[in-house]
Amino acid sequence: VKVTYVAADGTRTDVDAEPGSNVMQTALDNDVDGIVGECGGAMMCATCHCYVDEDWTGATGARNDGEDDMLDCAADEVKPSSRLSCQIKLTEALDGLVVHLPEEQA
Ligand code: FES
Repeated sequence: VKVTYVAADGTRTDVDAEPGSNVMQTALDNDVDGIVGECGGAMMCATCHCYVDEDWTGATGARNDGEDDMLDCAADEVKPSSRLSCQIKLTEALDGLVVHLPEEQA
């Protein structure tokens, strides 16, 4: 499953993700800057904040209530496309996913 991370400065990083992993863990596994994932995916921080590319918001679906609450703590602007990347599970349907990273995570 291919995932592209676009940093706030426009730098693109393409990685090969394990299906079943999530967007936060995949960033950490591949040393992608811009995702911290402090709580390890327990929805207890907002340091895995990302913006789903507009072409992919349908495929990734809506955020859940817990994400909404946690995103109130996000360091950067929360947009309609904001998600906690640990809550985006990577399946074949998301092959080619593009996410944009905020400037700040904490
Ligand atoms: Fe903490 Fe996603 S890693 S909420």
